[in-house]
Amino acid sequence: MNHRGGLVVWAIILIPVMLAAQIPGYGTEIESRIDAMVAQMTLDEKIGQLQQYAGGESAEHREMAAAGRVGSFLNVRGAESTNALQKLAVENSRLGIPLMFGLDVIHGYKTLFPIPLAEAASWNPELVERAAAVAAREARACGIHWTFAPMVDIARDPRWGRIAEGSGEDPYLGATLAAARVHGFQGMDLSAPDRIAACVKHYVAYGAAEGGRDYNTTEVSERTLRDVYLPPFAAAVRAGAATLMSAFNDLNGIPASANPFTLTDILRHEWGFKGFVVSDWNSIGELLNHGIAADSAEAAWRALSAGIEMDMEGRIYKNALPGLVERGLVSTAAIDEAVRRILRIKILLGLFENPYTDPDLEKQMLRTPENLAIARQMARESIVLLKNDKNILPLSRSARVAVIGPLADRQQDLLGTWACEGEAGDVITLLQGIRSAAVKPDLVLHARGCDVLGSDRSGFKEAIQLAKRSDVVIAVVGESADLSGEASSRADLALPGVQEQLVQEVAATGKPLVVVLLAGRPLTIPWIAEQVPAILMAWHGGVQAGSAVADVLFGDYNPSGRLPLTWPRTVGQVPLYYNHKNTGRPTNEQKWSTKYLDWPITPQYVFGFGRSYSTFAYSHLSLDKNEMGPRAMLTVSAVVKNSGRVAGDEVVQLYVRDLAGSVTRPVKELKGFKRVYLEPGESRKIEFTLGPGELGFHDAHHRHQVEPGRFKVWIGPNSAEGIEGDFCVR
Ligand code: BGC
Repeated sequence: MNHRGGLVVWAIILIPVMLAAQIPGYGTEIESRIDAMVAQMTLDEKIGQLQQYAGGESAEHREMAAAGRVGSFLNVRGAESTNALQKLAVENSRLGIPLMFGLDVIHGYKTLFPIPLAEAASWNPELVERAAAVAAREARACGIHWTFAPMVDIARDPRWGRIAEGSGEDPYLGATLAAARVHGFQGMDLSAPDRIAACVKHYVAYGAAEGGRDYNTTEVSERTLRDVYLPPFAAAVRAGAATLMSAFNDLNGIPASANPFTLTDILRHEWGFKGFVVSDWNSIGELLNHGIAADSAEAAWRALSAGIEMDMEGRIYKNALPGLVERGLVSTAAIDEAVRRILRIKILLGLFENPYTDPDLEKQMLRTPENLAIARQMARESIVLLKNDKNILPLSRSARVAVIGPLADRQQDLLGTWACEGEAGDVITLLQGIRSAAVKPDLVLHARGCDVLGSDRSGFKEAIQLAKRSDVVIAVVGESADLSGEASSRADLALPGVQEQLVQEVAATGKPLVVVLLAGRPLTIPWIAEQVPAILMAWHGGVQAGSAVADVLFGDYNPSGRLPLTWPRTVGQVPLYYNHKNTGRPTNEQKWSTKYLDWPITPQYVFGFGRSYSTFAYSHLSLDKNEMGPRAMLTVSAVVKNSGRVAGDEVVQLYVRDLAGSVTRPVKELKGFKRVYLEPGESRKIEFTLGPGELGFHDAHHRHQVEPGRFKVWIGPNSAEGIEGDFCVR
């Protein structure tokens, strides 16, 4: 921008950094109650509150509960088990402080929903919130007070297996869904019998692991941290999240579990967070491996002084804090502050009044018809139609269908990573779903063809013969559940094993072919994308996955999912994300521009992409002003018309670009989206509002501001298409 010279006074607006975070039910009146409790506690009892153990079944665990020497257990579940331990804490310990039971309720407790990345593909925060509320209701009925979710790590690298647990690559979508999940778990009252405390994780930048290798080092500039990785955490804290979990990774040389800058300066001072932070599993102990602590005492000191209140399973606090206090290296005031934060959440959870869980609730709350209906809707909305040449989909219900592939009838794999209490037996597989939707179930036949992994092609022949006898082939291929999630990074993103060869040989029969991909991440499928006429991305869709896929295949549901990440053609393109910088040499036909010699620079499918059985036309982009001050709000609208022949949802997306800034700016940034249902021929004007929150960014001094200059704005169906306008900030 040319008018940004020294003589021009910049119009700068700083966005208020305090988030006015408020955990549901919190009011300062509970502080005196906390004071009174802390005043009665011995040092051992205080340190006990800071320690969490996994299990809870051993004699040692029971003794600690009875002695008031433990604050929380993880992985204990069920009213009977949790009540038994709770009884020891409440009735036998000196002060009767109740225990808090935590569990990884990541995408459902018993009623398993699609994996979080799949839910993100719904771009439907209301439905995501309802799914989290179901998970909370089921979990609390089984004695759980606290889930280690939502996982809000932005990930730009699908090699990282934990990409499955988050909402993809975009800070705006990620922040919106982070808030939705926190609301869903916590509601307005943490003490309600159907709500649980959220734990936003993994704080922070865990998803930036170098090479996509889990637990690996991260180097992220403070600006990128603030513009890309922190927004979902900030949104979750603003939504009232009760707790956070610190991450395993080191960030710019300081492990996230001992980082005063992120844990204290940002979280507590900038955002005003009143809840507590739990370490990840022994991530305080791992400070020794990181080489930032010479011994456990130093690890405990670093973690506590950085701002970690609870030690998950590591026993570092239990073993080291008494000595550190005795030597005067950790003050009683620091211990008290940590204890206060934990007691605050226990009070808000209503545990002092209602420490126990009614055992009858368990049976009433799990897998209710209502929960299953929400799971089915969530699974439907998360499915992304990637290709549908010649309208091969939807299928006729009376077709003779060959369902081929190793994942077509695998219940366990549809549960996905972090299956919690999900039971394989509850899962409707794709084969079952297709059979129950078909007019004549016995016309739907199945051949596995091969395994997910390995090189055995002995089943190919049967699959090919079956394909030849059928009207249409549905090939269900992808990743088993254990190929994504924690410690499940992959260096190759192709279909594992001989699955692609199976698809190729089946395609060679010339029968109409639909590929349904089940996976925890995008897979590199250049041949399939080119040669197969219809492709559905159905992720790991939870207990109702098979019905949901059948709903889409037969047209009972018009697919509406959109990719929450950029889908690479080959692993060598990674990291590949839509909101990249322009560079000094943006891609063009010339050699000397940013590109590869051997592969295109473009992705297989862009961020925000997904097809429908209908078509949607965009027109009449309109801005209520073309110039505005940095504090003003701008309304942008467009008319979206269902120009096809079937009713359906369109996800209308708004992107902006700040054409020149004091630091380089992304080529596009998502700043709004709306899911709208339109009947054939129906049009609707869709409006978005843009203001400092959407137009600002962190400058060279890490101040969040809106700078003067020109902006472009697009409203469209994905990050690569749309109708365009512009405006100027004075
Ligand atoms: C994971 C966390 C999880 C914790 C407790 C760790 O290994 O990184 O995401 O919440 O275990 O199960």
